[in-house]
Amino acid sequence: MQRALLTISRSALSENVAEVRRMIGDRLLIAVVKANAYGHGVDPVAKWLLEDGADRLAVAYLGEALALRGLLPDGCERVLVLGGVPPEHAEAAVASGATLTVGQLSEIPALADAADRVRATCRVHLKVDTGMSRLGVAPSGVPEAVSAIAARPSLRLEGAFTHLATAEDPDEAYARQQLARWDAVKAHLPAGLLTHVLASGGAVRFPEYLESAVRAGLLVYGIDPLAGLRPPPLRQAITLTARLEAIREVGPGSGVSYGATWRPTSAGRVGVVPVGYADGYPRSLSGSGWVMFRGEPAPIRGRVCMDRFMVDLTPWPDARPGETVTLLGDGASVNEVAAAAGTINHEILSRLGPRLVRRHVE
Ligand SMILES: Cc1ncc(COP(=O)(O)O)c(C=O)c1O
Repeated sequence: MQRALLTISRSALSENVAEVRRMIGDRLLIAVVKANAYGHGVDPVAKWLLEDGADRLAVAYLGEALALRGLLPDGCERVLVLGGVPPEHAEAAVASGATLTVGQLSEIPALADAADRVRATCRVHLKVDTGMSRLGVAPSGVPEAVSAIAARPSLRLEGAFTHLATAEDPDEAYARQQLARWDAVKAHLPAGLLTHVLASGGAVRFPEYLESAVRAGLLVYGIDPLAGLRPPPLRQAITLTARLEAIREVGPGSGVSYGATWRPTSAGRVGVVPVGYADGYPRSLSGSGWVMFRGEPAPIRGRVCMDRFMVDLTPWPDARPGETVTLLGDGASVNEVAAAAGTINHEILSRLGPRLVRRHVE
């Protein structure tokens, strides 16, 4: 019996992929599986997503691509590394067969030299910084980057992309500026490239910029990227449940958890939930979060500890250790829990730790 369990539903993932497909038509769906498939377990989720309709996968780092190599029937053939590759890893990167991102001019010679040595052609996507100020060549540097790549026959420029900084923001002004810069960049790109601008929030908000590919993480995992603004019909694929480890009677004079920040004023009972911030369950939910118990919310009392926290079970005098509570799922969606924790859906998902057992179900 697991103390806590992450259950990941393939049918939900598959329905979400179908929903994204309805949104984007025959454009390429690049499903984003970085950070252990947003906590869902990249094995087998990466393979499932390809089998169920995604065209490609994207990861943040080369190491994540290398880890996928043995999990996919065609290795890294359909994997895009969104971040740059340090020169000392260029050879391994090229040899992996993954599609690599060029985000700085200085990366081009190292990748091309490595491809020459490995005697392979390396597919690359050029990343353009239109306003995120993270990775990517400046729009003014695009013509030079395009010619530098074209000058090296072992590199094949397959795509170009940019990333929006404020796609989720109801104020569209900054995103519109980025999109205008991107429009100007496109004039300097060779014809026939795969171009991609939008992640999940942008795909819902700016469908006119779906271009030839979309990089979708949240949508695929069934999380509404715009927090209720225009929800597409999605199903959250992940649930986190736990079994009550103990139940304690508390009363006036007792303090609950570190700091004794919650002190009951009358007799009641708390249940001990065996999940803590070491599992990625935010400590900031102390005193503000809740779990679902028998279909009703049971509020967190006192501070979330490293390995467990307490919830108020006073309304259920017959509650017993071993009963199940839901931390993420119906009544406690990833978006609702993120809002209560003062963070975002991506952080809740990607921090779900290795100590939690993942069960992948059809
Ligand atoms: C460059 C890039 N593209 C796409 C995504 C996917 O974003 P989302 O999960 O909002 O679809 C991310 C996520 O952080 C990203 O960094």
